[in-house]
Amino acid sequence: MIQFENVVKKYKTKNGVLTAVKDVNLTINDGQIVGLIGFSGAGKSTLVRMLAGLETPTSGQILINGTNLSALKGYQLRQKRQKIGMVFQHFNLLWSRTVLQNILLPLEIAGINKTQRMTRAHELAKLVGLSEKENAYPAELSGGQKQRVGIARALANNPDILISDEATSALDPETTNEILDLLLKINQEVNITILLITHEMHAVAKVGSQVAVMENGQIVETGSVTEVFKHPKEQITKQFVADELNGKVG
Ligand SMILES: Nc1ncnc2c1ncn2[C@@H]1O[C@H](COP(=O)(O)OP(=O)(O)OP(=O)(O)O)[C@@H](O)[C@H]1O
Ligand SMILES: [Mg+2]
Repeated sequence: MIQFENVVKKYKTKNGVLTAVKDVNLTINDGQIVGLIGFSGAGKSTLVRMLAGLETPTSGQILINGTNLSALKGYQLRQKRQKIGMVFQHFNLLWSRTVLQNILLPLEIAGINKTQRMTRAHELAKLVGLSEKENAYPAELSGGQKQRVGIARALANNPDILISDEATSALDPETTNEILDLLLKINQEVNITILLITHEMHAVAKVGSQVAVMENGQIVETGSVTEVFKHPKEQITKQFVADELNGKVG
């Protein structure tokens, strides 16, 4: 279980202190796919970067199965971080490495021996449907294929949590659907918790079980996807739902 408790993140900027995340409370149960939706600048990436241990909250705490992330240091923090995989909009692949070598990277960092990491990398390439492309370079792949490499790499060390930060934002609708199907398949096969950050209600509606809506650093609405779709309470949620419905009609 993931628990955000009164989480605040402030940044010092030239124009003063900017509060990117304001007192967020959110509980995510294991094995769920949770959509985190909101406009640009709402604080979504900041929130998940803290979960990934890439940033520390200014105040409040994030608990993963009861362990406070901020209390961990050094080896323990690295161990915990390995249990959280992250996928990004712009893939963040190494261009001089092949598909297989990209997938191998986190396994090398984790110190897995050569035979085991080769077996695991082949297994991951297969899981994401890229067995035929193991020796290709990122520049030779389509956007969807690049994101499949990103997903395989994120899953390398068997994480408990997968964070997808706008992973489909650079993809066309059809490829987006394929990637969402892949995330759903992974969620079902390995029971991983997925946090799906997106601008698109469509993505949340397709694979999410729970949704949290973020605005100006706060979670303004949360609930099951079915419930929030049927009875959106906040203006911003109504807008996201309406856009999704209009998209379907149009
Ligand atoms: N390192 C930083 N230093 C200063 N301000 C930051 C930093 N990171 C984020 N911010 C600010 O915090 C706010 C939230 O940013 P964040 O990236 O979390 O938004 P987001 O919801 O992920 O937006 P998008 O949909 O565009 O990715 C923004 O106003 C942003 O400018
Ligand atoms: Mg972001």
